[in-house]
Amino acid sequence: MCGIVGYVGTKQAVPRLLGGLKRLEYRGYDSAGLAIIADSELKIIRRQGNLANLEAALSDFDATGTLGIGHTRWATHGHPSETNSHPHIDCQGNIAVVHNGIIENFHTLRVELMQKGHKFRSETDTECLAHLIESYYQGDLLAAVKEALRQVQGTYAIAVICRQQPDILVAARKDSPLILGVAPDGLFVASDIPAVIDYTKEITILENGELVELKSDGYRIIDAQENMIKRAGIVIDWDIEAAEKGGYEDFMLKEIFEQPTAVKETLSGRINREGIVELNDIGLSDESLRQVDKIYIIACGTSLHAGMIAKQAIERWARIATEIDCSSEFRYRDTVLSERNMVIAITQSGETADTLASVHIAREQGAKVLAITNVVGSSITREADGVIYTHAGPEIGVAATKTLVAQITALILLAVHLAQQRNSLEQEFSREIAKELDALPAKLRTILSQADTFKNWAKTYHDVYDFLYLGRGIGYPVAMEGALKLKEISYIHAEGYPAGEMKHGPIALIKKGVPIVAVALRGPVYEKILGNMQEAKAREGTIISIATEGDGQISALTDEVFFIPRSNEILASILAVVPLQLLAYYIAKERGCNVDQPRNLAKSVTVE
Ligand code: AGP
Repeated sequence: MCGIVGYVGTKQAVPRLLGGLKRLEYRGYDSAGLAIIADSELKIIRRQGNLANLEAALSDFDATGTLGIGHTRWATHGHPSETNSHPHIDCQGNIAVVHNGIIENFHTLRVELMQKGHKFRSETDTECLAHLIESYYQGDLLAAVKEALRQVQGTYAIAVICRQQPDILVAARKDSPLILGVAPDGLFVASDIPAVIDYTKEITILENGELVELKSDGYRIIDAQENMIKRAGIVIDWDIEAAEKGGYEDFMLKEIFEQPTAVKETLSGRINREGIVELNDIGLSDESLRQVDKIYIIACGTSLHAGMIAKQAIERWARIATEIDCSSEFRYRDTVLSERNMVIAITQSGETADTLASVHIAREQGAKVLAITNVVGSSITREADGVIYTHAGPEIGVAATKTLVAQITALILLAVHLAQQRNSLEQEFSREIAKELDALPAKLRTILSQADTFKNWAKTYHDVYDFLYLGRGIGYPVAMEGALKLKEISYIHAEGYPAGEMKHGPIALIKKGVPIVAVALRGPVYEKILGNMQEAKAREGTIISIATEGDGQISALTDEVFFIPRSNEILASILAVVPLQLLAYYIAKERGCNVDQPRNLAKSVTVE
């Protein structure tokens, strides 16, 4: 997630913009920049790296203006570089834009604008906005921005300034957050409350489709139909730490609740108007993908569980033999790979040592390597032949949550893409999957709206010494992930297991008071998991189950049950993992654990 800040008022803009960007640093970024209008000149300064680099450069930057915009960039399109950092400007250097979000149709817009003579400087989607606004500008910046945004598909929160109107700042949002701050010495727009909290606690939330024009003495909000919007501001009483967490108690909880957006952003631009999955520019040609005769998935921890789901999707839909192994084993096995093999390396950080080492071995043996990662420019992107980015935004909590659901989303898109290339999937079925993917954010919100269920369960089940998580089919990797989440943040021993394996030993663990979490989703092995639940119940285990809404059988077998919305069986993994994240979170909170920084753990394991 990028961060944007804008200011217009009676004081110097640069200190306020820099202060605001510093308050957004927690969101993670790889470059930063400012644009100021001073003495009727538009002045831009941008630097790769952290804000200290930008601040150091400001000593040679003479900008005493009271109007400006600023940006911290979390790269989505185009590697981290000064050229790709924001603000972006139009051809004439009269208009500057900062943006948080993804312009889905930027390829088309860029071609059309270049055909009209616009010269582009960067690889970013955002630069299209500067040229588009320029093409509509006839002296009224608000009007030009409104017209330009009518051409845009995707998500955005933007702030725009223009040399010809040195007292106006225009901002707008669609599906990316944007707030307005009213301070005694001027007005702010920003991606998030922390950016303005040092100057004002009086804020107004802008809604989707709204634009706002700010001047030093006031502002006006209009909606897409140009109706004037009057909205009472709110006075927040958060301190800065609460503001960085968006009012949530912990980053982990905030990130669990960001999962609908993480899925939506990861899908953005990857399903076309005909409802067909379209994975462009992943760095591996369709022909090279068609030649792949075997796939090896490698990853660690939570990413490995995403890989287990991908294996089922790829084998079922694309009919490509797929192996999976944790990176720390793969790198020391005497694997036999060939040029026709593809290794899929899943790593949200892009820096996990075992996964990087495995990729190196794979490439030595001539295999193609496709990385699935959340961090543009991370080490894995320089080692792999191709990359599919997840767009979950920076994940602060050590326990992976939104990056997991974004990984599964990206891997499902890949599985459908591979199947489409091999005609191993009816086009109608591909459309059905794409439609169900689009429906996931709303279904996730339905689950999240029932979060208190797990807060209550945690009051009952937080003081136990052992948990068993059981699943079959797609429920098995979900069970594994549920157990890992509980282990890593509550320190309770929890074991994920294929339910069918219980009778081969682990069933000896079950006795009165041992909670068993059964991932019992509708699907080809549903009856089998019911049988396993009966076995556990017969041994006085306490059964907690995650089931599919409308399931009338499960309640008789279970002490607690949570129903997830219906979905395609593979996609249901994304829905089923969220209750287990929430259960782990609330149990850990009951136990007084530090959920954002659990003991002994690091966000990225960059050493063996
Ligand atoms: C998961 O909650 C943990 N943070 C850990 O297992 C993590 O998934 C693993 O270290 C892999 O990290 P990566 O995705 O950055 O490679």
